[in-house]
Amino acid sequence: MTIKKKYSNLLSIYLKDFEPYVGEISIPIFAEQRGISPNSIIKVDANENDFIEPNWLRTKLIESIKDIDITRYPDPQSYELRKIIAENEKIKIENIIMGNGTDDLIDCIIRMFLDHKSDIIVVEPTFSMYKYSASMMGASYTPVLLKPNFKLDTEKIIANVKPNTKIIFICSPNNPTANQFSIEEITEILENTDKILVIDEAYVDFASYSINKDTDLLKKFDNLIILKSYSKSWGLAGIRAGYAIGDPDIILYLRSIRKVYNFNAVAQALLIELYKNYNYIASKIQEIKSERDWLINELSKFDDLHIYPSETNFILLRLNNERIKIKDVIDKFLTQNILIRDRSNLPLLNNCFRITVSTHSTNQYILKLLGELFQ
Ligand SMILES: Cc1ncc(COP(=O)(O)O)c(C=O)c1O
Repeated sequence: MTIKKKYSNLLSIYLKDFEPYVGEISIPIFAEQRGISPNSIIKVDANENDFIEPNWLRTKLIESIKDIDITRYPDPQSYELRKIIAENEKIKIENIIMGNGTDDLIDCIIRMFLDHKSDIIVVEPTFSMYKYSASMMGASYTPVLLKPNFKLDTEKIIANVKPNTKIIFICSPNNPTANQFSIEEITEILENTDKILVIDEAYVDFASYSINKDTDLLKKFDNLIILKSYSKSWGLAGIRAGYAIGDPDIILYLRSIRKVYNFNAVAQALLIELYKNYNYIASKIQEIKSERDWLINELSKFDDLHIYPSETNFILLRLNNERIKIKDVIDKFLTQNILIRDRSNLPLLNNCFRITVSTHSTNQYILKLLGELFQ
């Protein structure tokens, strides 16, 4: 990208080689360009939650904000909410910091540890935000590829740790490969490095185990940070809410680095209300998992596709057909105003695309379109 000349010499040195992030799609712009209503677009490209009923959430939102005084700043400590999360995660509130989405916490962690002399290791292919945030600090970036079967290459990760390595990012379950890495592999990395290890568990509610709840790694290793998101299993992508769990000293630093009111009063009140109704959310998580397993089974019937197992609310698919290109698939879906995610430009993911597990009727429609494409 060209920056206007008059500003270029004023840019932060950290942004010298910075590639601005241009990935996100604006639904109103997209709808306007196509001359359609935003409501007619089916989004299966961002791993959002199509099961939690928006009206149920709306009712809870209205109930929860009844007593909020928005003339006042929110509680900067999110004290009542963190107490509930602490009880739920069986940790202390000092172990928790709230974020304006997990993205906010990734950014805070990056700003806490990195400068232009630092390096981060990121296990790829994965979520792009770690790289993007690190590049804003001018830090160097060491990608370590998964093995071709998408297992962690722990030896290679450990071998790539350099004196200036500050953070290792692992997303588990991983977006977009949809698999969760084993406790043994994560433990092996922790036993071999004192660098910060961030495990992004944005999709963990759809998976087999959780690092904090099902292991004692957090008690053993004070360089471990775990990220959780409310955007996926809780259906709150529009509210922007997530949290990090880690050593109290790290959490204290992060609290100074974030913007002091990064977690607004509405998000706090809504989450407190939703924790009282967790059974409903848990039942929806179960529904998503069942629908996912059904959809994987149906998709597997196409010879033209390879379907990867999933511990998330999305599915990674690889085209097996020389005749049909990824662009044909994307275009076929676009003609029906369905957005899917092309992942074929990522390492190891030649010919791959990703779809969110949507409602049964949308999934049937997706199967029908794929059927037409492969006939
Ligand atoms: C692995 C991963 N981490 C974090 C995020 C961002 O989550 P949030 O909406 O909580 O910022 C995403 C969003 O897609 C993701 O896939």
